[in-house]
Amino acid sequence: MNAGIVGLGRYIPEQIVTNFDLEKRMDTTDEWIRTRTGIEERRFAGDDVNTSDMAYEAAKDAIHDAGIRADQIGLILVATVTPDKPFPSVSTMIQERLEATHAAAMDISAACAGFMYGVITAKQFVESGTYPYVLVVGVEKLSKITNFEDRNTAVLFGDGAGAAVIGHVSEGRGILSFELGADGSGGKHLYQEGPYLEMNGREVFKFAVRQMGESAENVITKAGLSKDEVDFLVPHQANIRIMESSRQRLGLPEEKMSKTINQFGNTSAASIPISLKEEVLNGKISDDDVIVMVGFGGGLTWGAIAMRWGK
Ligand code: UT7
Repeated sequence: MNAGIVGLGRYIPEQIVTNFDLEKRMDTTDEWIRTRTGIEERRFAGDDVNTSDMAYEAAKDAIHDAGIRADQIGLILVATVTPDKPFPSVSTMIQERLEATHAAAMDISAACAGFMYGVITAKQFVESGTYPYVLVVGVEKLSKITNFEDRNTAVLFGDGAGAAVIGHVSEGRGILSFELGADGSGGKHLYQEGPYLEMNGREVFKFAVRQMGESAENVITKAGLSKDEVDFLVPHQANIRIMESSRQRLGLPEEKMSKTINQFGNTSAASIPISLKEEVLNGKISDDDVIVMVGFGGGLTWGAIAMRWGK
């Protein structure tokens, strides 16, 4: 019994904040942001839109896409570092709103790798026959922990949500292999202290370049595949230069890597599911394609999945 993605959803806030808007707020330029990160604009959720509101919208979209009822879900996992409040969890908040009356619920704290941790946890429950469906949401309202006095971090992040329903798929499809990892000694490079996110960008950059490429290669090997059998790469959208280094390591052409960072910035746990949905909607990912997803983030944490697309 293979587990795979049977439904995808997302929620993108309406408010667009361009690099030019940020130029007016701090000592930065559109040119610096575009060339150093690949970001052109990002979305910020308004004061009246909380993390759970975005999670709910993305989840509803994914459940609809899967063609199931919310009460068929056995577990809800929400990956976020920006919950509405320390507790109750965002997952319980959306459990109520979705009327997912048979679902257990918990949040996952693995920063930008959170969606990878969620999908791999979901796979265990689905493949063991414990639950028919697990809902995984990656959601962040990073604008509420961004220090707009710190140009090193303020230009990078955006808000949004992505969701996937994990369920059984046909033989040969679904999750083929995965890798999860953590290195707590790197926690000092990316963390929240008091109200704001703090980052040592150069250290995180070096770690990300090494880890993304390595994890992507590892899941390809574990799946018994070679690099030239990979159809599409969906990397965490943190910095175009980090993404490009992974793409080049896999020897993939530019059009075979998802790139949504220019529109949405770094949305942490939401970036991979938002990008996946984008590529499916654009027809760039189709049934039986081999997809590699790879993420990394604060912790430090990382995760990668090789998957054959389709139900
Ligand atoms: O989701 C996971 C979390 N985060 C990441 O993946 C981020 C990983 N790191 C990065 O993406 C990059 O390190 C950054 C984009 C954060 C920074 O890029 P960089 O090429 O590593 O720049 P830098 O930190 O080495 O700074 C270069 C210069 C500095 O000026 P000086 O000291 O050379 O005069 C910075 O002060 O760029 C300056 N700078 C800026 N200039 C204009 C830093 N931020 C800005 C800015 N606008 N927003």
